[in-house]
Amino acid sequence: MTTFKANSICSVLFVVFGAALGILGNGDTFRRKVSVELNPGLTPPSVLPPGVGVVHVRGLGLNDTLHFLLCNAGAPALLMVHTNSSRSAVQVDWPEFINHSSAGSLRVAPQSSVQYSSALVFTRVWEYDDVNNTADPQQTAETSFYPPYELQNFLWSLNVSVNQSDHTVTLCGGEKTESFVNGSLCLQFSAFESEGREKVWPSLRHNANSSQLRVWLDGVTPRGNHSRFALEFQSVADSGFEGRVDVHSSIDDEYTPSIFKVSQWVSSPVNSSGVVGYNQWKPVAYRKPQPVFEDATPCKHSQLVSVNRIPRSGLVQAYFTDHPHTSGLNISFGIDKDPVFYSNSKYISWTVLVGLGEPPADSFSTLIIIIITVGLGTPLAIIIVGGVFVWIRKRMSNSSGYEPIN
Ligand SMILES: *[C@@H]1O[C@H](CO)[C@@H](O)[C@H](O)[C@H]1NC(C)=O
Ligand SMILES: *[C@@H]1O[C@H](CO)[C@@H](O)[C@H](O)[C@H]1NC(C)=O
Ligand SMILES: *[C@@H]1O[C@H](CO)[C@@H](O)[C@H](O)[C@H]1NC(C)=O
Ligand SMILES: *[C@@H]1O[C@H](CO)[C@@H](O)[C@H](O)[C@H]1NC(C)=O
Ligand SMILES: *[C@@H]1O[C@H](CO)[C@@H](O)[C@H](O)[C@H]1NC(C)=O
Ligand SMILES: *[C@@H]1O[C@H](CO)[C@@H](O)[C@H](O)[C@H]1NC(C)=O
Ligand SMILES: *[C@@H]1O[C@H](CO)[C@@H](O)[C@H](O)[C@H]1NC(C)=O
Ligand SMILES: *[C@@H]1O[C@H](CO)[C@@H](O)[C@H](O)[C@H]1NC(C)=O
Ligand SMILES: *[C@@H]1O[C@H](CO)[C@@H](O)[C@H](O)[C@H]1NC(C)=O
Ligand SMILES: *[C@@H]1O[C@H](CO)[C@@H](O)[C@H](O)[C@H]1NC(C)=O
Ligand SMILES: *[C@@H]1O[C@H](CO)[C@@H](O)[C@H](O)[C@H]1NC(C)=O
Repeated sequence: MTTFKANSICSVLFVVFGAALGILGNGDTFRRKVSVELNPGLTPPSVLPPGVGVVHVRGLGLNDTLHFLLCNAGAPALLMVHTNSSRSAVQVDWPEFINHSSAGSLRVAPQSSVQYSSALVFTRVWEYDDVNNTADPQQTAETSFYPPYELQNFLWSLNVSVNQSDHTVTLCGGEKTESFVNGSLCLQFSAFESEGREKVWPSLRHNANSSQLRVWLDGVTPRGNHSRFALEFQSVADSGFEGRVDVHSSIDDEYTPSIFKVSQWVSSPVNSSGVVGYNQWKPVAYRKPQPVFEDATPCKHSQLVSVNRIPRSGLVQAYFTDHPHTSGLNISFGIDKDPVFYSNSKYISWTVLVGLGEPPADSFSTLIIIIITVGLGTPLAIIIVGGVFVWIRKRMSNSSGYEPIN
């Protein structure tokens, strides 16, 4: 009987821990071999304008390739091309690309291997004087808007620092105006070989089919006394695909404290529900490069709108040949009644994940699983151990018989 009880304790604990390990064990093991090159195939006499570059990141799978191209000729853009071949390559007609960015001057060959292409382009930074403190560009009178910063006109005092070991590329730009004397807009691109998370908040979960862009606006002199900013970006994809923005709740706030939502702008083939690509972000921005909890500020996105011409990005103009479809939205930083405006820290950063297939979903973290396991397991173990103890005592007192108290 004792053995039976002991066994049942073991099996209960085994089930509890086993379930925990089961949840832990479903981590995805898909990997890509990632390599980074700058200006593929560029040879003299062709030269790019100063500060302009094309960064090519190749993510090689077993029999497919995921190409990412980051370029700042015109508005900064990230192009993602998925092919069903492990031999697909980027081909650039450099004189044509440099001179006119004409359609077809940058391609991924063989063309027949291309399964899906889409591009994300950062087009404008909007600034408005939020005198009513609504933090909502749509409720703000048009007269409160300052002329937007057109990113296609930025001078990219570009700093492409390619880091082969962690596959990150950083580029910064600005313009020769008073506001930008000490300011810059930077994009940090990261590609990943396997599943994981960055330490830096919002610590989005990534995998080998995704890449990440962190955007920050640093040191810009605000033009108003209550300035807030919004970032406009557009997505370009082959015709035959359509986009929508979904907002899901997210269970786990361990990695992004106090944020329980995740937004994803997904692309599906027309008349199909299957998701082929996505931009995913959490509705939060940070007011410091190394933020603490108080430096988080919510952000929100506007409605997705169709844009009737492709954005002024050399990369997008050179790659898409067949009437691509463009749509866009704004991400605005801040929340109504928030007394902290951009001028307080002169810094705001926001992060988006760009990838292929279904967007990664948060699951319970190891810590949470351990907490749940301990939380459920401990009372259970106490009850069982207590039961056994009571049973043994009862048995012992039965065998010895009651001692008369007196
Ligand atoms: C791709 O590789 C996997 C694993 O080697 C294999 O199972 C699959 O059939 C391959 N797919 C194609 C289209 O060749
Ligand atoms: C670039 O364009 C200029 C004029 O637009 C032309 O003179 C020049 O030949 C072109 N260069 C190449 C390599 O196509
Ligand atoms: C790649 O996809 C194309 C169609 O997009 C198809 O014709 C071709 O057979 C595929 N190749 C492989 C190796 O699966
Ligand atoms: C502030 O709010 C009032 C009333 O809602 C509105 O009429 C006005 O246009 C708003 N001002 C700005 C600058 O948005
Ligand atoms: C470029 O990067 C280097 C090293 O990260 C840094 O020292 C330098 O200030 C950067 N230059 C610009 C223009 O941002
Ligand atoms: C590249 O990244 C690794 C890992 O983050 C870091 O240790 C290293 O210093 C970086 N190298 C350069 C040149 O920035
Ligand atoms: C830019 O920085 C310099 C040195 O820190 C400072 O003197 C100047 O006032 C700043 N300019 C603006 C427009 O903030
Ligand atoms: C990444 O994409 C490849 C090719 O479409 C697919 O086989 C793989 O399962 C995907 N991995 C993840 C983690 O989404
Ligand atoms: C900002 O505030 C100062 C003083 O509080 C005022 O003189 C100035 O006109 C204001 N600027 C704008 C753009 O409202
Ligand atoms: C999508 O469905 C509509 C109506 O069901 C049809 O007219 C259209 O041709 C379909 N489009 C594609 C790309 O299959
Ligand atoms: C972004 O916001 C600005 C200002 O409200 C508006 O003019 C612009 O059309 C918006 N862009 C998109 C893509 O919605």
